[in-house]
Amino acid sequence: MNTAGDTQAHDKRFLDAALRLARKHQGLTGTNPSVACLLVKDLGHGPVVVGSAVTALGGRPHAEPPALDEAGVHAKNATAYVTLEPCAHHGKTPPCAQTLIDAGISRIVTAIADPDERVNGKGHQMMADAGIEICQIDGGAAARRVMAGYLAARSEKRPFVTLKLAITPDGIIGSRNRGNMKISCTASNRQTHLSRARHDAILVGSGTAIADDPNLTCRLPGMETRSPLRVVLDLKARLTREHQLISQAIQFPTLIAGSADAPAEWQAMLRMSGVQFLACETQDGQVALPELLDDLYARGIQSVMVEGGAAVAKSFLDEDLVDEIIVHVGGDPEYPETDICAVKSPLSMQNLPANFELCQTLQFGVDQSLRLQRKKN
Ligand SMILES: NC(=O)c1ccc[n+]([C@@H]2O[C@H](COP(=O)([O-])OP(=O)(O)OC[C@H]3O[C@@H](n4cnc5c(N)ncnc54)[C@H](OP(=O)(O)O)[C@@H]3O)[C@@H](O)[C@H]2O)c1
Repeated sequence: MNTAGDTQAHDKRFLDAALRLARKHQGLTGTNPSVACLLVKDLGHGPVVVGSAVTALGGRPHAEPPALDEAGVHAKNATAYVTLEPCAHHGKTPPCAQTLIDAGISRIVTAIADPDERVNGKGHQMMADAGIEICQIDGGAAARRVMAGYLAARSEKRPFVTLKLAITPDGIIGSRNRGNMKISCTASNRQTHLSRARHDAILVGSGTAIADDPNLTCRLPGMETRSPLRVVLDLKARLTREHQLISQAIQFPTLIAGSADAPAEWQAMLRMSGVQFLACETQDGQVALPELLDDLYARGIQSVMVEGGAAVAKSFLDEDLVDEIIVHVGGDPEYPETDICAVKSPLSMQNLPANFELCQTLQFGVDQSLRLQRKKN
């Protein structure tokens, strides 16, 4: 017989497994969150997964119907582990809460309620009214990370913004006369590529686009198709067709956030190269960032990773538009100790923004990686 302690341990184990599965389609489900559903039942030798699914690419179908299909007759009296409260609103298909009720599940464990006003507690209520045991357990922090873009979009109507920088222990991010410098190690760089795959867009300033000529893609083996939209702030029309962000735009989408007054022939060159052009509002001669985030949100972008450089990172921080910071501190940077052309990072180990709190420290090869989250008011 199962004790309450056993049930608690099983719940944590299966919800954690569901959260890991949800990560699989992070950044690939459009305006829907990547949600996972596991159906678990004791078939005589302890609880086993009888059905599992994650939100499909593009956002439909949701995870619950395919997980129920896989479970077949075993869905009856199973426990459903779903990373987000099942939807309660009718579209062309019935709400997932109703589909779970019709399949005869007896219990549901979820990590967080859905802030979407069409759901927000209604999914749980529908199932409770049908006699299903509802259990919300403390998987909240991990679930919020997986669904950060969706949650920010629903609550703040703008994309979730991650600022990612690689710095030397002295807080240097580059050198004006040396182009792209090696600050972080291979293991850190791979993590950056993984982070890119989990965001809807990557954003840099024209300073970085010109100095480093980066391609800002995800180049992890097997994940080459996971590169998000590349966004460059370029009000002075400085990028040319020779820069990788332009020359590869057919293969890897690029959007230039530029000026409505940009020369017509330059805009034509962008169009011919397959680059999207967004005429931006400006403030003090720079791209107005809140309005830019609004425009990206309107295009379905729910998460943006800002990858520098110094000026752009500072603007996002100064305007309080950053939700999460990831800093890789190079353990063995190829960087001279004295460099009069050093580009200083707007943050350093000694000077972390006061309105952020450290929530994770990891070691990637010789580098240390810090994750900071904006403090809750
Ligand atoms: N270690 C790292 O993690 C890392 C990452 C990236 C870059 N870097 C380094 O950083 C250096 C480049 O940094 P940077 O400061 O020179 O250039 P940047 O921040 O990449 O780009 C700055 C440019 O972006 C444009 N911009 C438009 N709107 C803006 C706004 N609201 N706020 C700020 N900029 C805006 C402006 O050019 P327009 O007027 O032309 O629009 C501005 O000159 C390079 O040395 C590069 O290697 C390091």
